[in-house]
Amino acid sequence: MSEQLFEHKTVLLHEAINFLDPKPGGRYVDCTLGGAGHTRAILEKCTPNGQVLGIDQDENALINAQTALAEYQGSLITRHANFAALPELLAELGWQGADGILFDLGVSSPQLDVAERGFSYMADAPLDMRMDQENPQTAADLVNSLSADELAKLIWDYGEERWSRRIAQFIVEARTRKPIRTTGELVDIIKAAIPAAARRSGPHPAKRTFQALRIAINREIEILEETIRKVPQLLLPGGRVVAISFHSLEDRVVKQVFKDFAFSGGHSNRYKDLATGTDANADTSVSATDGSPAIGLKILTKKPVTPEAAELENNPRARSAKLRAAERISIKPE
Ligand SMILES: C[S@@+](CC[C@H](N)C(=O)[O-])C[C@H]1O[C@@H](n2cnc3c(N)ncnc32)[C@H](O)[C@@H]1O
Repeated sequence: MSEQLFEHKTVLLHEAINFLDPKPGGRYVDCTLGGAGHTRAILEKCTPNGQVLGIDQDENALINAQTALAEYQGSLITRHANFAALPELLAELGWQGADGILFDLGVSSPQLDVAERGFSYMADAPLDMRMDQENPQTAADLVNSLSADELAKLIWDYGEERWSRRIAQFIVEARTRKPIRTTGELVDIIKAAIPAAARRSGPHPAKRTFQALRIAINREIEILEETIRKVPQLLLPGGRVVAISFHSLEDRVVKQVFKDFAFSGGHSNRYKDLATGTDANADTSVSATDGSPAIGLKILTKKPVTPEAAELENNPRARSAKLRAAERISIKPE
């Protein structure tokens, strides 16, 4: 993909960099490389001696970054991977930990704008929606195989679509005639399912259903939760994690995980769990019961940080962005 096609306006750039606070010589991970806007800003601060590992499950993002950031060759390491593999990727590089880890979740503008990727309800294309094109399952597979109940639940949970049940029924009915293969076919089914009066106001009638299918097919919420829980252990002491989310479920996951590890007023929730042995997922290597310090987080954003009016004016896609940040600390058992 040409550099020209990869136009993604980086969201909350200054805010993310301020919280991540990259230092010369530091090691940083951008788990969602995308158009590499955040990565470029991190490289500017941490090089010549620092390094950035940029991960993306979309190969196009890597191709773009290698070209756009050619001047940082040697300092930028890219990996085509799901960020779920973060612990293994750090181990493979021989990094003991990172000074900062960034997540800028969701999709990039090229993923949305290139019709053939099948993310957009505005253009007719194969119903795909895979961020990783090596993932064997597409959105079409999902809509043609799930039961009406499963579809309704998915559309409600991830899309908060009040017409989820009707849309699911219309999908199941339509596919008895022929499989649903394109975004255009799905848009027509959704339009038929939502009563005309309800379609007259608000966003495009297919917006919420498309979002729900995208989150499901890419397993976005499960993978975020699984990965971000491992982050405190992957940060060096004083290292920082910054997460930008675009969906209330994502923000809820980030908020909850930070809270689970938070140090506040003399104890950390995580430390408490470790000390009492109640956390089934606890990593025994950081057990506080043997007198060694447990890992905790200091939350740096009491409330999520949202874009300023000027950014929203320039980039409407930043509308739902919420940034949370935290710093790794060690907690000495009492
Ligand atoms: C919002 S864009 C990132 C934009 C980037 N920060 C910039 O400034 O241009 C999100 C990127 O993360 C990637 N992505 C989302 N979930 C991922 C995951 N679980 N593993 C790897 N990459 C992921 C997407 O493919 C997409 O390219």
